[in-house]
Amino acid sequence: MQISLTRPDDWHLHLRDGAMLEAVLPYAARDFGRAIVMPNLVPPVVTVADAMAYRERIQAAMPEGADFTPLMVLYLTEQTDPQDVKAGIEQGVISAVKLYPAGATTNSSSGVRNMANVMPVLEVMAEHGLPLCVHGEVTDSDIDIFDREAVFIDRVLDPLGRSLPELRVVFEHITTKQAVQYVQEASRALAATITTHHLFINRNAYLAGGIKPHYYCLPVAKREIHRRALVDAAISGDPRFFLGTDSAPHTDANKLQSCGCAGIFTSANTMACLAQLFEQEEALDKLEGFTSLHGPAFYKLPPNQSQITLQRHEAPVSFGSHIDTEEGPVTIFDPLTPIYWDVVRSD
Ligand code: NCD
Ligand code: ZN
Repeated sequence: MQISLTRPDDWHLHLRDGAMLEAVLPYAARDFGRAIVMPNLVPPVVTVADAMAYRERIQAAMPEGADFTPLMVLYLTEQTDPQDVKAGIEQGVISAVKLYPAGATTNSSSGVRNMANVMPVLEVMAEHGLPLCVHGEVTDSDIDIFDREAVFIDRVLDPLGRSLPELRVVFEHITTKQAVQYVQEASRALAATITTHHLFINRNAYLAGGIKPHYYCLPVAKREIHRRALVDAAISGDPRFFLGTDSAPHTDANKLQSCGCAGIFTSANTMACLAQLFEQEEALDKLEGFTSLHGPAFYKLPPNQSQITLQRHEAPVSFGSHIDTEEGPVTIFDPLTPIYWDVVRSD
C-alpha cells in the first residue's frame, strides 16, 4: 500500500550548528518542506542579525537539490529589543520568537525569568501576528518535574493569554492531557505541537527495566493516560494540533553519562513512525492534516506544493541504530514497535 501526502513541515526542529548541522540537515530536508528552527545554540540566536547568519550557515550545509526552507526563530531574552523584532518581521526574516523559561532545558540559561520584562516585545509580536513558541514548563525546584507543564498553564500561559489575548501562541511539545484540554478549550489563537516520540513512549520507556537515556527528553514523557491524550489529539483532525518533532540530536557520549543531555533524534524516521501510528489508530486519513496542513494554517503560510509518498512493506523497515557525525554517533529514535512504513518518494 502507498499513500501520498502534501509534503510535511516540522514546526519544532533542532538543527544545531557546524558538523552536527551538516550531519542532521539531510534527514529533515529529505522529508520536510519547511521547519521552525530552534534558536538554542551556544550562544543563542537572539538578534535578527544572528538569525540571518544562522540561516546562511543552514543554506551552506543544504544538500544539493533539497526542497527545504528553514524558518528562523529568535530566542527571547529579557534584553531582546522590540525594535529589532519589528525589523525582523518587516524584513520577513523571522517566523516566530521562542520563549524558554530560564533553566527549563538545553541551553536555556539566557531565557526569561520575569515575563513582565518581555511584554514590550510580546506586544510588538501581537500587533504583527507573529507567533510566540513556548517551552511550557515552570522551572521552580519545588515543582515536581512531572507537574511542570500543568503548573506552567496556570502560572504563565493562562495569565499571558489574559494580558495579551491577541498574541498567537504555540504551546510546544505538549506532554499532558491538561495541555491538550487547555488548547482545545482556548478561545484565542493557541495551538500546540506534538512530537513523534511523545506519541510513542510513556515514562516506562526511560525508567522501567533500567535507566534508558535515549528516551530522556524535555519535557519528560509522562504516564500512559497522557500519551493516549496526545494520540487522540493528533488523530482528531483538530487543526490546533500539528507536528513539531523536537528532533534534538546529542552525541551518544553526551547522552550516556551521569548527567546526560535531554533530547531525542527523530528526523530520520519520523514520517515512517507516524504512518505506522496513524494506521494502527485507523486514522491514516488524518495524517496529512497533522503533518502538512494544520501547521501552515496556523502560521498563515500556504501548504507545500510538492508531495511525499509513503509505502507500507511486508516486513519491518530498519532505520539503523544511529547516524555518524564528526562529533560521534547520534542514536536514532527506536519507537519500540516494528515500523512497516517508509518514505519512498518526494515529488
Ligand atoms: C532540546 C535540545 O536538546 O535542544 N531537548 C529536548 O529534550 N527536547 C531542547 C528542548 O526543546 O527542550
Ligand atoms: Zn526542542
